[in-house]
Amino acid sequence: MPIRTLFLFGTRPEAIKLCPVLRHLQSEPEHFDVKVCVTAQHRQMLDQVLEAFRVKPDVDLDLMLPGQTLFQSSSRMLAALEPVFKDLKPDLAIVQGDTTTTLCGALAAFYARVPIGHVEAGLRTWDMAQPFPEEMNRVLTGRMADIHFPATPWAQANLVREGVPVERTFVTGNSGIDAVLYVRDGLENGTLTSGVDWSFLNPAKRLIVVTAHRRESFGAGFESICRAIARLAAREDVEIVYPVHPNPNVQDPVNRLLANLSNVHLIAPLDYIPFVDLMRRAYLLITDSGGVQEEGPSLGKPILVLREKTERPEAVEAGTVKLVGTDENRIVIETEILLNDVVLYDRMKLVHNPYGDGHASARISAAIHSFLRK
Ligand code: UD1
Ligand code: UDP
Repeated sequence: MPIRTLFLFGTRPEAIKLCPVLRHLQSEPEHFDVKVCVTAQHRQMLDQVLEAFRVKPDVDLDLMLPGQTLFQSSSRMLAALEPVFKDLKPDLAIVQGDTTTTLCGALAAFYARVPIGHVEAGLRTWDMAQPFPEEMNRVLTGRMADIHFPATPWAQANLVREGVPVERTFVTGNSGIDAVLYVRDGLENGTLTSGVDWSFLNPAKRLIVVTAHRRESFGAGFESICRAIARLAAREDVEIVYPVHPNPNVQDPVNRLLANLSNVHLIAPLDYIPFVDLMRRAYLLITDSGGVQEEGPSLGKPILVLREKTERPEAVEAGTVKLVGTDENRIVIETEILLNDVVLYDRMKLVHNPYGDGHASARISAAIHSFLRK
């Protein structure tokens, strides 16, 4: 009998990292009967990814509310997930990462007494306030999970140190790297196109791509990030493209402080293939995104991270990622160093894959199969 596997996700990054995995499991119908439930914690940004990977969910809970609070999304999600487990009766629930959907999906599976697989397990900053609430979400999800898929040996060691039996952990690489390498290679060899007309970019200027959305930076942090971007945009040799996250706490300061500045293009979130294409064209990336931090090294792009702490130390240790926090002066100084010092820039633009080799989905599939057979 195939293993009835229920994938639960709701946001853009979960979708980017789980679609390659569920696609892989679907290619083995003799082993897996795959069902997909999306909470739609994100609506438009989730749909962009579902379309890119041609995934049609079996259940769409359509839960997003504009400006939703953590209380609203988590309570509505848990209530909506009860009938899903009753109807689908899965043998295994798969969640990814550290969002509200991840935590509520795991909790719902736990209440339904369904074993839980956690993709991208073991990331830690050991500071519950950074990132908030994600650090708590992943700690709690890890406590409930039965089978863990850390991307790297470092993440696996964190789990083992917390008492997770090592035989329940499988180092698989990050499935987001499966996605980015597939798109990078497709764009390079012409089998994929982004479909975006980039002629608005000035090839004589160096492109800086910015993304930011972390809750702990709302308010003063975002004001400071935006002021830094405005100062950098005053340089004649750079051009900034910033796909702006739709969260009102992001939209407000970004539109107030950066709209109509020359050298700054504020755009809507891009579909996944165009966004990878944009990153390929960039001179450097400035971001607080977890996924972009992982993808940047595979594309050979230096990354300045708008956070004080990261749960992804591997690329920092390799020298391609630098933490710069949200202080205006520090962001400007660190960016200018990279723009002005070619030797340092060349050292940082190393192409390497600390987070995966593009085969995480196959490893996760094999691990589930061998674990549940036991
Ligand atoms: C969530 C995750 C965060 C992840 C991020 C990825 C939690 C607590 N946070 O944060 O870990 O890094 O997603 O982007 O789970 N919105 C839209 N359309 C969309 C998506 C969002 O309009 O497609 C707006 C809505 O007003 C929504 C708000 O953004 O209420 C916030 O969305 P939410 O998922 O609660 O938080 P994020 O900041 O996106
Ligand atoms: N991304 C995208 N379009 C954009 C910006 C980002 O497809 O306009 C992708 C990016 O390549 C990465 C993921 O979204 O795979 C990261 O999502 P996000 O930054 O929202 O969340 P995080 O990774 O911080 O949880």
